[in-house]
Amino acid sequence: MPASRRGSGSITLPSGQTLAIHTRTQDEEGLPHATKRTMADHLRKFESLFTLTPQRMRMITEAFSETLELGLKKPGQVVPMIPTYVFGWPTGEEVGDFLALDLGGTNLRVCLVSLKGNGQFEITQTKYRLTEEQKQEDGENLFDFCAECLKTFILTNMDSIVEQGADEEGVKEDGATVAAATAQAAAGESEGGGALIKPGQELALGFTFSYPCAQERIDHGELIRWTKGFGAPNTEGRDVAEMFRKALSKHDLPIKLTALINDTTGTLIASHYVNPRTKIAVIFGTGCNAAYMEHVSEIDKIAHLGIDPKADMAINCEWGAFDSFEHEHLPRTPYDIIVDQTSNKPEEQAFEKLISGRYLGEILRLVICELIDEGVLFLGQNTYKLDEPYCFDTAFLSLMESDPTDELLMVIGIFTHFFALETTLAERQFFRALARLIGRRAARLSACGIAAIVQKMGYLDEGCSVGADGSLYNKYPGFADRVHEGLIDIFGEKGKNIVTHHAEDGSGVGSAIIAAMTKMRKDAGIYPNV
Ligand code: BGC
Repeated sequence: MPASRRGSGSITLPSGQTLAIHTRTQDEEGLPHATKRTMADHLRKFESLFTLTPQRMRMITEAFSETLELGLKKPGQVVPMIPTYVFGWPTGEEVGDFLALDLGGTNLRVCLVSLKGNGQFEITQTKYRLTEEQKQEDGENLFDFCAECLKTFILTNMDSIVEQGADEEGVKEDGATVAAATAQAAAGESEGGGALIKPGQELALGFTFSYPCAQERIDHGELIRWTKGFGAPNTEGRDVAEMFRKALSKHDLPIKLTALINDTTGTLIASHYVNPRTKIAVIFGTGCNAAYMEHVSEIDKIAHLGIDPKADMAINCEWGAFDSFEHEHLPRTPYDIIVDQTSNKPEEQAFEKLISGRYLGEILRLVICELIDEGVLFLGQNTYKLDEPYCFDTAFLSLMESDPTDELLMVIGIFTHFFALETTLAERQFFRALARLIGRRAARLSACGIAAIVQKMGYLDEGCSVGADGSLYNKYPGFADRVHEGLIDIFGEKGKNIVTHHAEDGSGVGSAIIAAMTKMRKDAGIYPNV
């Protein structure tokens, strides 16, 4: 068993100072545990650290609203309020076949989306898991991987994508090109009915790249900073659309990158496509962010582009950056500060670090480690497995919160199975209560962000739907209810007018709709240069 930084008993240092240590030994029986009373006492301290009063929420909302306004006025603000060049809402009548590539925090997904009109669509997709190494490797390798996955997807779904009977001249020697595969398909099984493009034509691709990118046009995006633990060098400050195009050019693929979009923008458009009451989209997953539709006349920083001020444009807020660097508005605990300082991006994404799925488990782990060091938890046991940063998955918080048993069997399971630790009932109740505090704070802060947009856009009286997606929103028990409670705490009864709902697939369907909208706009000659 690896040595633990914790032991059992006490040692006296040469300085005369005495340190208490605690280690489990094989023959130890009847392990000492903290009493229920002690755990309840500790809980009170964490309740006051992690609880947000309605008054505090209203103050945060106010500051948030001002930050959003500032981001629209001046370029280069902490919350960058990125103009997306997605103009107005979809009509629901967008039709056609589009590819969507989605580089999220955890997976890479390739989709073929058939928009049928009337808010209807069909989707075929494949997911590829991203390794931790890929997130830190040179950016060019990451985009090469994206292009290779796209190629695999096209080759696999060739029959339905490229019309058969390709021009023989297009067939290359290596047999691995799309043209070659097309010829193979022509010689083989499928009839080829329903193919989407003819040889020589290109299929439009929407690339969902869910990191903050400053855009000058819809098919351009300079990465401002990596978030969600990504750190691939040689990418920040560069146009990722161009990097991807370069990777794509290494393969013989009939694809044109039409739009670079953020997952929130895709979610906004896809949710409105099926539910026109949707005015705001939010993602609460590995990262967190929001998008909404703004009047061009309000986006002072792009006034020089001469776009019709009466037009509307989606804004990707990148609100995860709220209160970064200055840390003036958000109530950070000592655990949040450790999460921040030990992250690959200290000081950045301050709001996201209190909310998103990437960090909640780590916050709880840090509280537990502190209590172990204070000799409060797991007395006499070897706790080395909990020393590993990020070993406590946010999914464990969800599981603990939804444990229906009096004995909290799920909590027993998590600690014995993953950390080889025995727990008392008092400890388990404490862990569950702690998960509740951390999960509830995340939801209430999320409500502040939504409220800031609602307030800024004046949606409170008429009400609106908020399309929401991401693992936290979809899987964390009670997350949506807590957001709704938070909105009532901020706005009173009127807060009930703002309702979140599970969004349509923004990164796949949304991306395809945006590709369709862009194609229609450009074909019609509307703002052809952006
Ligand atoms: C990124 C956003 C993204 C959000 C949700 C954040 O870390 O900065 O661009 O929308 O995660 O995926």
